[in-house]
Amino acid sequence: MDAKRVRSIVEKWMFPTEGGSYMGGLERRPILARSKGSIVVDTNGKEYLDFQSGQMAAALGHQHPRIVAAIEKTMKVMMHASNTMLNVPRLRLHERLGRLLPKPLSKSLFLVSGSDAIEAAIDLARKATGGLDVIGFHAALHGSTSYLTRSVTFNWDRRNHSIVAPATQSILTPYCYRCPLNLKFPGCKLQCLTTSLEMADANFTSQPAAFIGEPVLSAGGVIVPPPGYYEAIRKACDARGMLLILDESQTGLGKTGKLFGFQHEEGVTPDIITISKHFGGGFPISAVCSTAPVAEAAVKNGYFATRSHATDPLACAAGEESLDIVVDEDLSGRAAHIERRIRRALKRMAKEFELIGDVRGRGVLLGIELVTDRRSKAPANKQAQAVFEHCLSAGLIFQLRGVRKLKNVIRLVPPMTATDAEVDRAMGILYDALSKVTRARAA
Ligand SMILES: Cc1ncc(COP(=O)(O)O)c(C=O)c1O
Repeated sequence: MDAKRVRSIVEKWMFPTEGGSYMGGLERRPILARSKGSIVVDTNGKEYLDFQSGQMAAALGHQHPRIVAAIEKTMKVMMHASNTMLNVPRLRLHERLGRLLPKPLSKSLFLVSGSDAIEAAIDLARKATGGLDVIGFHAALHGSTSYLTRSVTFNWDRRNHSIVAPATQSILTPYCYRCPLNLKFPGCKLQCLTTSLEMADANFTSQPAAFIGEPVLSAGGVIVPPPGYYEAIRKACDARGMLLILDESQTGLGKTGKLFGFQHEEGVTPDIITISKHFGGGFPISAVCSTAPVAEAAVKNGYFATRSHATDPLACAAGEESLDIVVDEDLSGRAAHIERRIRRALKRMAKEFELIGDVRGRGVLLGIELVTDRRSKAPANKQAQAVFEHCLSAGLIFQLRGVRKLKNVIRLVPPMTATDAEVDRAMGILYDALSKVTRARAA
């Protein structure tokens, strides 16, 4: 498909995209024709290393042969089924997931998207506690449905949406590289949390229902809360009768080097987690998982959540297969290996390029924060964009993220199945881009 035809379809038949947004100007980006493993190919036949794993949902690699086989097999038998009846792939997935979940999590409910799962998780916490207020990080992204999930997606401008859900408020993100209170961990003793909770307590409009957070804040700039932070949140929730919801959309099912992102934290057991993204191996399916007592308490208060396609056999079969792949291929181990390889390469680059201010993240969810100088930590938004463009033209795809309006964090999310050679090739492309941008600054 040539560029003229692409432009004409976009202009005539598509809703426009906001120019400056991360969905803006799509027609100027590569038009994808096919994909396989870690590679996507555009309509000109040019290959790119996909270090954003699609929309972070191709973490098993594009078209994993076992996912393709599971879908092919199931679609010949039963593609869609009513959610008012049980079906065999649905039951198998509940059992498979239930056995895999760290205790006391055991129960699951299926939906279609990550946003669906977040809405359902918040509703679950409200029905289980009888509370209403929900707090989350000010750099959080939890979804794009127009009401509840955008209301707790504080990293986007809430004022872009006409109505914001009541009883939702943000607390400070524990972003140690740019501490919002100008303190240093561990001397700070998590003052950001203490201050935030004091404010939250003053603002609650009812019995609070839940705190919601990502184990690693992905879109907010790949921020890893400091050790002990989530343990302190757990205690704060218990003290207030609130539930702890962890959004494992981006961190779940192997990506951080453990099966779930929260397992990096000592003494933290969430009441509710959500999973989505590569849960279906590229096919849309999400889940809300919880404990038996929470599920029972909520159901007594009338809780239910579903969608017409939430329990389709096709999606459930893909879900079961993806869980088996994560376990059989030890993809968490693979993610940890990729992290070590990328960190080694970035350590070498950081010696050469002042632009690299901070490297953080876990497993295959890594962030490189670019700054114009390391002392002032001035965000290098322009340089990050230039690095992004050099990489794109050299065949490496990733996204730029950051807190609120910043776009100075290179977010790398390679598939967990990426080979060492692919990782090294990506690091080579990134090295060339950083050196070009550094030379251009010096000139
Ligand atoms: C952490 C997190 N939660 C929820 C969502 C929403 O998922 P979806 O786009 O599938 O609705 C996203 C989307 O990127 C996400 O990153």
